[in-house]
Amino acid sequence: MSAPPRRVENLHTDKGKVPVYATGIVEQPWDDYSADDHATWTTLYARQRELLVGRASAAFLAAQDAMGMTPDRIPKFSALNRVLTEATGWTLMGVEGLLPELDFFDHLANRRFPVTWWIRRPDQIDYIEEPDLFHDLFGHVPLLMNPVFADYMAAYGRGGVKAHGIGAEALQMLTRLYWYTVEFGLIREADGPGSSPGQALRIYGSGIVSSTGESIHALESDAPNRIAFDLERIMRTRYRIDTYQKTYFVIDSFEQLMAATAPDFTPIYARLARQDSVPAGSVLDTDAVLHRGSGEGWADDGDV
Ligand code: PHE
Ligand code: CO
Repeated sequence: MSAPPRRVENLHTDKGKVPVYATGIVEQPWDDYSADDHATWTTLYARQRELLVGRASAAFLAAQDAMGMTPDRIPKFSALNRVLTEATGWTLMGVEGLLPELDFFDHLANRRFPVTWWIRRPDQIDYIEEPDLFHDLFGHVPLLMNPVFADYMAAYGRGGVKAHGIGAEALQMLTRLYWYTVEFGLIREADGPGSSPGQALRIYGSGIVSSTGESIHALESDAPNRIAFDLERIMRTRYRIDTYQKTYFVIDSFEQLMAATAPDFTPIYARLARQDSVPAGSVLDTDAVLHRGSGEGWADDGDV
């Protein structure tokens, strides 16, 4: 038998927070969740679903229902896996916290998605620094049911293994792509049957769908820039980990994302390494701007 799972969180020191990595794969200790744990899931699920109808990508909402995620209690990974593996070949596996980069990429490349087994405490309900079960399961897992997005995530994993072998700069550029698509991506979608030809802006990024504040901010606030997806632009763009994003990048479809990221990145990494990075809130004259942010409330420093 393996050791009981641990709950691995960032360390808080006098130098700020230090991420702690854990490699262990764990059995989800489902019987050990407390009534508080299930209640946290129920509260967050109900709140986000209500907010996300009409805001999240239709593909996300449909997939979440198809998987059998419900508000009443924390889902069992084993039950979700029966549906997910059948649909796209992905498997969820329990982890204790953040994985080292190469381990993470290797799992993705093999269609294994790491899900943190523990859920945030009641006092962390509105904000938690590190990914927990709610972020991973509610935010990331539904789109793994979508065949195109499922392929994108596996291709990203293979790209990660490759970038890791190339070096730190390549890895940084690839991480920005993950950040601005998987975590904080927006998509323009047809606005449902019978509606006008207009395209509605919707959320697909997991970091947004699992956050009440950012679900509204990303779509409705005047503050952030909303710019059409551009691979190399994203690879050069710094980002925020401590506040809402200053800029969101908008795709037209998952097929567009897949096609744009299909080429070999090796020569792109080499070329972009000679260019300056772009601050998180900048708008360039080469950008296709959908909305130019007012910049209200932005902190001047702190881009990573
Ligand atoms: N085409 C990328 C490469 O050669 C791999 C990749 C695919 C990266 C999809 C991200 C997303 O590195
Ligand atoms: Co995430």
